[in-house]
Order: sequence, then structure tokens, then C-alpha cells
Amino acid sequence: MKKTSINIGVIGFGTVGAGTVKILLRKRKDLEEKLGFPVVLKKIADLDTKTSRGIKLPKGLLIKDSNSILNDPEIDIVVELIGGTGAAKDITLKAIQSGKHVVTANKALLAEKGREIFRAAEKNNVTIGFEASVAGSIPIIKVIRESLIGNSIKNIYGIINGTANYILTKMTEEGAEFSDVLKEAQDLGYAEADPTFDIEGVDSAHKLTLLASLAFGIPLSFNKVYTEGITGITPLDIEFASEFGYKIKLLAITKQDGNEVEIRVHPTMIPKNNLISDVNGVFNAIYVNGDATGDGLYYGKGAGEMPTGSAVVSDIIDIAKLIRSGGKAQDSGIHEKSDLKVRKMEDIRTCYYLRFSASDKPGVLSRISGILGSHNIGIESMIQKGREIKKAVPVVMMTHEAREKDIVSALKQIDRLSVVSGKTMYLRVEGSDS
Ligand code: HSE
Repeated sequence: MKKTSINIGVIGFGTVGAGTVKILLRKRKDLEEKLGFPVVLKKIADLDTKTSRGIKLPKGLLIKDSNSILNDPEIDIVVELIGGTGAAKDITLKAIQSGKHVVTANKALLAEKGREIFRAAEKNNVTIGFEASVAGSIPIIKVIRESLIGNSIKNIYGIINGTANYILTKMTEEGAEFSDVLKEAQDLGYAEADPTFDIEGVDSAHKLTLLASLAFGIPLSFNKVYTEGITGITPLDIEFASEFGYKIKLLAITKQDGNEVEIRVHPTMIPKNNLISDVNGVFNAIYVNGDATGDGLYYGKGAGEMPTGSAVVSDIIDIAKLIRSGGKAQDSGIHEKSDLKVRKMEDIRTCYYLRFSASDKPGVLSRISGILGSHNIGIESMIQKGREIKKAVPVVMMTHEAREKDIVSALKQIDRLSVVSGKTMYLRVEGSDS
């Protein structure tokens, strides 16, 4: 017999929880009209039942105890929005074992503990909806898993952390200070509970882990993702990048090359004529290149209460429809079939931006370029600023394609030169041919 209504329990009433609840309550009638059956928010659990979330709740809806959701036989879908990999994991597994479907925005949990969770879900014939875990409002999970199923994916690259993009945008366009902008992003509800995840690239790495697994069929490989954040980016680098015709973005990149897959997150120079260089603020954008489609660019708000809440609700509705139709649980798309290996970072090849602090003396440039040449690194262009006889001046170069290992070992040697002061800054370049 068809269930008359689908009942939802939300655990975690923070930023995304509030967005989800607002949509479910405010759009209740709309959704019922579209679906032909009601989706009922039965309970919300959060330890904080006092703070206002900007919506008036029916009395008794918000409770403290998540067990009263997990143990409620009438609840069909548990929405886990507490985040983290501790209590969230227990709650998710408990829900699965009770035969409840789960919707989550928790990329950390899925990237780090996803093997156990997806296996448990398969065993218990329940769906894990995780659209909200990557790129907020952009339905990128569906795109890769469903819309592009007829393609072999060649590469994916994009901006998948709203907070870092917000910070870099404000630093680039307004010359703002890093710490001030981070505070703004936190106030706007974009940042993770621990914002170092945003600025050190960890949040992007969590999301990229999921995308790489969906795209290439590889096991979830969070520990193998090369992860570098934006804390080392200086206004000077932003200015030089601009002079060379580039912007600096925190990019998440995964591509297949032969029997290897690259999975990496790092600040990256993007040519100003690449659409991604104009993706600003909290917006995310992801290029997916399929063998049939070629490049496709997916764009939208990547964080925040309502955009992410929208993605959570889309998963709730998909699952509600499945339950009503009596269909089987949805395939997560996370498989472990492929024997592609994750490429070591030292083996990647790309072009580089190098910024040296060098004494402005005759012969310095030839020593630097000599070391680069002996490591098979060719220079494409160069800028030297200022004339300071005693102090160091910035010398900036763009290289031709080179191997990471060669760059690292050349810079080690260069940084030991007495005419070079401090550690040389290097950034990878991407997206020149899009
Ligand atoms: N902190 C994340 C971001 C939230 O800034 O993108 C959305 O996943």
C-alpha cells in the first residue's frame, strides 16, 4: 500500500538545517501540489533549541534528542546536517540500520568514511542523498552520475569552496585583508565550523574526493588528494598574476591520463579569458569534460543557507518519490570498480608561475635560469620589478610545461643561492586551452 505521506526528520539545525526547514515549511503546499502527496517535516533535533533561526516553528517540532527521530518508525528520511565525522557518522549508520533513507550535506563524512556508509546503505537497501555535499546549489552530483552517464569523463576542474573564493575575490578586487574577509564569510554562513578546512583546501578536497570517485569509478581516496590552501597567497602574487593576464583561484582538479588519475586542490593561476576566472564571491563553477559533450560549465552559489538547503530538499523529494513508487534504493554512483591509480603529485606536469626574491645584481638571472634549464624547465616570460642594489627585488617567471618534481628540486637549489632571499613562491597554471 502506498504511504499517504513521506515523513522527514532533520538532525542539525544550523545554517543548512535552517535553509532546509525554511524551504520545507514555506513550500509545503507547493511541493504537495507538484508531487501529489505531502512531504511532512515531523521533527527537528538540535541541542540548541533556543537560538532563533529566522523561522517560526510549530510548537514541539524542535527537540533536543536525535534518538527520537532515529527511533520513530514513521520517519522515512533522516536529514543529517550536524556535520563532522563523529556523531554524524553514528547517526547516519543508525538511520541506515533502521531502514531509513539519509540525506546529508556532509562531505567530510562521505569523503573520509563513505566506504562504510555507502556499503551499509547498499546492504540495507536505502538511499544516501548527497547532492548538497558538493557545490551547494549546483546539481553536480546528478550531472556526473546521471546526466553525463553516456560519457567517459576526461577531466573535472573548478571552484568548489565558496569561502575561499569569496576571500580571493575580495583580496583581488578590493585589496581586502585576508582575516577581515574570512570573518565576513563566516558571518554570512559560508564557512565550515572549522574555517581552516575552507582556507587550507580540505573542504575542497573532501568534495573533490566524491567527484573523482563518481567520475572515474575509483574508491574514495581522500588521503591521496594533494591539498594546498590559499593562506600563502599575497597581494603581490595577485598583482603579478594580473600583469601576466591571470587570476588566482583555489581550484579542485581531477583528470584521467592513461591508467592514472590526478586529484589535487591548490591555488591556481587561471587566464583571464577562461570563464572560471570571472566566478566571484560565493559562487562555484565546475568544468566537466566528457568525451561526448566536450567541456560543460556548471555555475551557481556554492554555500549558504538557502542555496544548500535547496540541494537538500531536492534529494528529499527524489527519495520521497522513490518511496512512493515502491522503487529500489537509488545507486549512489560511488563504486570501487576502476583500477586506475592516483598519480603522485611529483609526477604531474603543468605550467608554473615562480616568484623569486633576488638581489638585483648582474648574473643573478642567468644563475636562476641556468638551474631551471638544467631541470628541463623552460621560461616562457618574465617580469623584474624595481632596481634595488642592496635589497631583494621580486623576479617573476612563467614557465613552459614542466614536471612538479623538477620544479621542487630546482627551487630547492635556487633557494640556497646567496643572491636569493626567502622561499620562492610557486603556483600552478591551469585552463589555458578552454
Ligand atoms: N564551507 C563551504 C564553502 C560550505 O565555503 O564552500 C559549502 O560546502
